[in-house]
Amino acid sequence: MTNAVPIFDSVQDLIVREKPETPIFCFSPHVVQDRVQIFKEKFPGITAWAMKSNPHHQVLKAVVNAGIRHFDVASREEIDAVQAVCPEAILHFNHPVKSPEDIEYAWKIGIRSFVVDCFDEVNKISKVIKANDISKYSAATLLIRFYDQNVRGSDHYNFNVKFGASPEEAVDLLAQCKKFGFNVGLTFHCGSQNLRPETYRIMMHTARHISMSAFQGEHQEIHRLNIGGGFPCPYPDSNAPPISEYLKEIRLGGIEHLCELMCEPGRFFVAEAASLLTRVTLRRYGDNRLYINDGIYGSFREPSYVALMPPARAYKADGTPISKLTTSLQPFQIWGATCDSLDGLSNSVYLPNVIQTGDFIEWGMMGAYTIASTTHFNGFPPAKLVQIRSLDPWID
Ligand SMILES: Cc1ncc(COP(=O)(O)O)c(C=O)c1O
Repeated sequence: MTNAVPIFDSVQDLIVREKPETPIFCFSPHVVQDRVQIFKEKFPGITAWAMKSNPHHQVLKAVVNAGIRHFDVASREEIDAVQAVCPEAILHFNHPVKSPEDIEYAWKIGIRSFVVDCFDEVNKISKVIKANDISKYSAATLLIRFYDQNVRGSDHYNFNVKFGASPEEAVDLLAQCKKFGFNVGLTFHCGSQNLRPETYRIMMHTARHISMSAFQGEHQEIHRLNIGGGFPCPYPDSNAPPISEYLKEIRLGGIEHLCELMCEPGRFFVAEAASLLTRVTLRRYGDNRLYINDGIYGSFREPSYVALMPPARAYKADGTPISKLTTSLQPFQIWGATCDSLDGLSNSVYLPNVIQTGDFIEWGMMGAYTIASTTHFNGFPPAKLVQIRSLDPWID
């Protein structure tokens, strides 16, 4: 079986040659290469990729080709997917709550790095190690995931509500895990699409406090500090600061740590590497509705629950771009492919007023948290992926 995918020069070339009836994920691997390179050059530690942001085989291959060898995984399926593409990959089981069977599976294939946020999870991991090979106890690294209720991260996602230990709990956990003989470290996540670069420095400082309190002047260091993901992409209206500002804050935060630093971006490596091409199934003139062949049960799940709207541009049915500069724009309500009344975008989208049934809409920055969570609801299959040599920039 070959995993080859069709390749097109541009989105326009795809429309002209295929006139696709179903939504198409237009993927450009060189963008991944470019984003990974920034971290390879500028991040002062290990860069992993959070593959949950886009588990498509071609995307995973692009991340591996870009040189990433560490992966944040959360399930057996993710573990198997990475190993199939990159057998030498180093996997980090960073889901704070894992099933005993998944821990066992991970341990047996050699994963030694885990995230925990409470003693009950530590006990589960200990049990697996004892049952398998107690002599390997000190080979396991446990990172304590902590949060700080007083520090603001992403406005879109609050990653403190489901997981994490308070700084006080983290002190206790860290000290106990160290006593048990584990390699220990700390981790946090500022929330996805975090627009505040300083959050990283502040959280790294909190990590320093936690480790000093846990080891109480014993001159011990944690083994690793994993600062998570959360690096933003320039969605319209988001005013995302440049990545250089984040890396600057991280370098400052790193000054007080002697341990290994690690990060695990998801969105930043892949969001801008793909557009989604959809076709207008119906323009309803009376009330300016556009019904398209994808929706919240497909690639638009994220904009249905957070205010992160992708940029959009239109093409005529024959592939001619409809320039936003030479046509009037008007707001359209966008409705998805299924029969469900929830299946629509909450914000209106400005598109050329000449757009009509059969025309196409390209949605940009659709490479993260899109393909990852599609369903087959109502019999509408997930978008298929093609490769695009060059995606046009989003300037108009
Ligand atoms: C533990 C962990 N690490 C990394 C990420 C990636 O975050 P982002 O895509 O915002 O970079 C996530 C996202 O949910 C996560 O849960």
